[in-house]
Amino acid sequence: MKPKFGFVDSELEQIKQNHLYRKLRYGTVNGSTITIQGKNLVNLCSNDYLGIPTTSLKIKQMQSSSRLVSGNDELYKTLERKLARHKSQQASLIYPTGYMTNLGAIPAIAKKGDLILSDELNHASIIESCKLSGAKIIIYKHNDTEDLQRKLKQKSRNKFVITEGIFSMDGDFSNLKEITEIAQKTNSITILDDAHGDFVVGKDGKGTGNYFGVGKKIDVYISSLSKGLGSFGGYIASQKNVIDLSINKSKSFIYTSALPSILVEYSLRRFESNREKQRKKLQENKKLLLAGLREIGYTINSQTHIIPIIIGDEKTAMDFGRYLFQNGVYAQPIRYPTVPKNKARIRLSVTAWLTRKDIEYSLDVFDRAYKRFMK
Ligand SMILES: Cc1ncc(COP(=O)(O)O)c(C=O)c1O
Repeated sequence: MKPKFGFVDSELEQIKQNHLYRKLRYGTVNGSTITIQGKNLVNLCSNDYLGIPTTSLKIKQMQSSSRLVSGNDELYKTLERKLARHKSQQASLIYPTGYMTNLGAIPAIAKKGDLILSDELNHASIIESCKLSGAKIIIYKHNDTEDLQRKLKQKSRNKFVITEGIFSMDGDFSNLKEITEIAQKTNSITILDDAHGDFVVGKDGKGTGNYFGVGKKIDVYISSLSKGLGSFGGYIASQKNVIDLSINKSKSFIYTSALPSILVEYSLRRFESNREKQRKKLQENKKLLLAGLREIGYTINSQTHIIPIIIGDEKTAMDFGRYLFQNGVYAQPIRYPTVPKNKARIRLSVTAWLTRKDIEYSLDVFDRAYKRFMK
C-alpha cells in the first residue's frame, strides 16, 4: 500500500528543490538583538518599529469568551475611542490580529455584485479577504494610477479600491494622493491597510493618509497593533455604520475568543507613551542605515523603514541570509510566494531599538556581503 501522506513528502520535496522551503527557528528577542542557538545577532527583521520600552502589567484572567459574549472588557471601549480619534473616524473595532481584521471586515463590507480594485502587491491577508467577500476582484498594476483609472470604468453596484499605505515587502509608499482622487471621482470607497505606516509616519504617527494630507479621503482604515505600536491585535476605523456592520457580520470577530484584555491594556499604555520620541529615533536610524547601504553600493528604492535588498534568485538570497546570520546580523530572505519568483530579497526593517553601534556593525557586515554576493 502506498503511504497515506506520500503526496505531502512529494510536495515538500518540490518546495525544497525550488529553494522555497521554510523552517522555524527559535530565538529570544531582546531590544535590538535576538539570540538564536546561543548566538547574539542584531535584529534587522523586527516589526516593533517604534521600539517603545516594554511595560510590565499585572496578569489578570486571560480569557472569558468572544467579545459578543462575555469577553468585551471595558478597556476595549477606551482603546477603540482613542483609535477612532487617531484616525479621525467615527468609530473603530479591535480584532485579535490585523490578518483577522482584513478577513472579517472586508467581506463584511463588500459582497457578490460589488467590484474590488486591488493593488497587485497587496498583502496575502487582503488577497484572501477579497476572495472571501465574493465580490469581483480586479488587480491593478502596482501603484499604477492609469491602470486603476482604466479598470475602474467597469460598472458595478459598489466599487472599492484597496491598497496598502507602505507596502510590506517593498517599503514603498502607495500613490495615495492620486488613488484617493480617482476613488472620489468614481464614487469608489477607499480602503487603506496601513499596517506598516500606522504609528510611524504622518503627524503624531497618524499614518500614511495623514502623511499625504488625504486622511479625510480614506473611507475605511485597517491596521495592526502588532507593528508600529509593538503590541498585539488589529483594528478597523471608519464611520459608525461600517463598524456596526463589521460587528454583525465579521466571522473572524464573532466566532473567536476576544483578544485578552491585558493586550488591550498593553496597547493603551504604548499608545499613551512618548511615541514621538521613538518616531524621531526611528527616523534617525532609518536615515543612517539607508545612507550607509547606498554608500556601499546597494540600490535601494525604499524611502521608509522597510528596506528590501533585491537579490533575484532564491538560492543566492538564502546564501546571503546565511552569510548575514554567520556574521551576527539577523534578516530574513523573502521568497516566493510572498514576493514574485526571481525577486527574492533580504527585507530589512529598522526599529528605534537599534543603537548607532548596531547599525554601524550591520553596515560593516553588509559591506562584506556586497563584495561577496553583489559584484
Ligand atoms: C499589509 C498587512 N496587513 C495586515 C497584516 C497582518 O497584521 P497582523 O500581523 O496584525 O496579523 C500584515 C502583516 O504583516 C501586513 O503586512
